[in-house]
Amino acid sequence: MKILIAYYSRTGGTEKLAQALKKEFETRGHSVDVEKVKPIKEHSFLGWWHIRMVKGDCEIYPQKIWDVSKYDAICIGSPNWTRLSLPMAKYLQKIEGLKYKKIGFFAATAAPPAFEWYILSAYLLDLTFTRIIEQKRGRIIESILLSSLFKNWGVDSEYGKRAIKNFCDKIKTPIFPLKDYFLNRKEIKNNRLLVIAFSTLLVSSLILHIVLPVFNKGFLSWAQYSYLAATFFFSILLLTTIHERKIGILLGKYIGGFSAVLLWTLTMVFAQPTLGRVMILGYILIFVLFGFFHNPKVVIFSGLFSFLGYGILFYNPSLKEILNPGLDLVLIGISCGAVASITGSLQKYHFSLLDSQEEIETAKAVLEIKVEARTRELRELTEGQEEMIKERTKELQEKINELGKFSRLAVGRELKMVTLKEEIEKLKKELEKSKGRPN
Ligand SMILES: Cc1cc2nc3c(=O)[nH]c(=O)nc-3n(C[C@H](O)[C@H](O)[C@H](O)COP(=O)(O)O)c2cc1C
Repeated sequence: MKILIAYYSRTGGTEKLAQALKKEFETRGHSVDVEKVKPIKEHSFLGWWHIRMVKGDCEIYPQKIWDVSKYDAICIGSPNWTRLSLPMAKYLQKIEGLKYKKIGFFAATAAPPAFEWYILSAYLLDLTFTRIIEQKRGRIIESILLSSLFKNWGVDSEYGKRAIKNFCDKIKTPIFPLKDYFLNRKEIKNNRLLVIAFSTLLVSSLILHIVLPVFNKGFLSWAQYSYLAATFFFSILLLTTIHERKIGILLGKYIGGFSAVLLWTLTMVFAQPTLGRVMILGYILIFVLFGFFHNPKVVIFSGLFSFLGYGILFYNPSLKEILNPGLDLVLIGISCGAVASITGSLQKYHFSLLDSQEEIETAKAVLEIKVEARTRELRELTEGQEEMIKERTKELQEKINELGKFSRLAVGRELKMVTLKEEIEKLKKELEKSKGRPN
């Protein structure tokens, strides 16, 4: 495979990763070209922060390679600037030939990567990178994030070596068809979004749990809160493991739905009648939120767990009095069914859109190949005609030259004859004169 590694590095972290990847690819017999992106003006950490916030753009030196279409895979490296670094964003905007290419993304970050991936920082890094690549219709195959600060998650660590090996293995794999590619990317994105949501909820619930008692509003004991915290923690752990191992990524949404229902049921059990019957609306909200994943099975799955959760609530003596199982279960059932049906229609619509997009992409690719072939044919034809015209012009020129020579010869002979005739005339006259003279 012919691979291009293009990267920007301010303090050497991304560069070290680029070199490690180059070495690994070369050991596997691939040919690797390296492009180091340089901004016209380098700045300090705070300088870049300022430019990023105010201008959001920078200029870079011209590159050796602007058209990357000759490469089988392109690996793009950038430091994590809570988004894509400005020089690499500029570089990606400028280069051509990313269409349908396999793209790998590697980045250096300060914090441990397993932590970074799941807080907003690396999520935004991935999002900004993905947006540019998808605009240019490249196909992101794999991402790798290593720490330049924590040795245990650095390039030379066991974690780093494993990640580099895995990255190079993945770059070799063939590209998915468009629909599968988008669905797979969506699952990865959803999974990460769920981890971010659960992490945010865990942190904010902890803050609330500490702050509320100060205002005499606390309603959970530490023992009760520990159940909630444990549920959050295990959900995050499961989702993170799925993401890290890339196994069973489709299960992420179901784990999310189950955890959300469990968390809400626990909150209702612990809060007791404080929240009143409004608590039932929490289940409906969960259906609606999980409906955004465009998968009716996830909504139905959450609905079934809600029935189970409601059962737990109903057998709780203090809640029994305020609950109305007939009405509540019908409400939960109907809303679950309605959300699942809307979600099903949205999923169908989404799939048909992806199918059409795939068809259009295929037709476009075929058309592009045809146009390219026809253009080449026409170019060859024009070049052939130019050659023919040159040949003919040369032949004509030779003929003109020959004619010129001939005409010069003919005219010369004519002139000579005229001179000779004049001479004969002159001699005749002299002869006449000499005959008439007396001896
Ligand atoms: C503008 C800017 C923003 C950054 N944001 C983050 C961040 O959100 N999280 C993080 O862990 N490191 C952040 N960093 C630190 C870099 O990601 C880290 O130092 C990285 O290893 C630098 O890579 P390099 O040596 O290739 O330049 C930031 C650095 C800069 C300059």
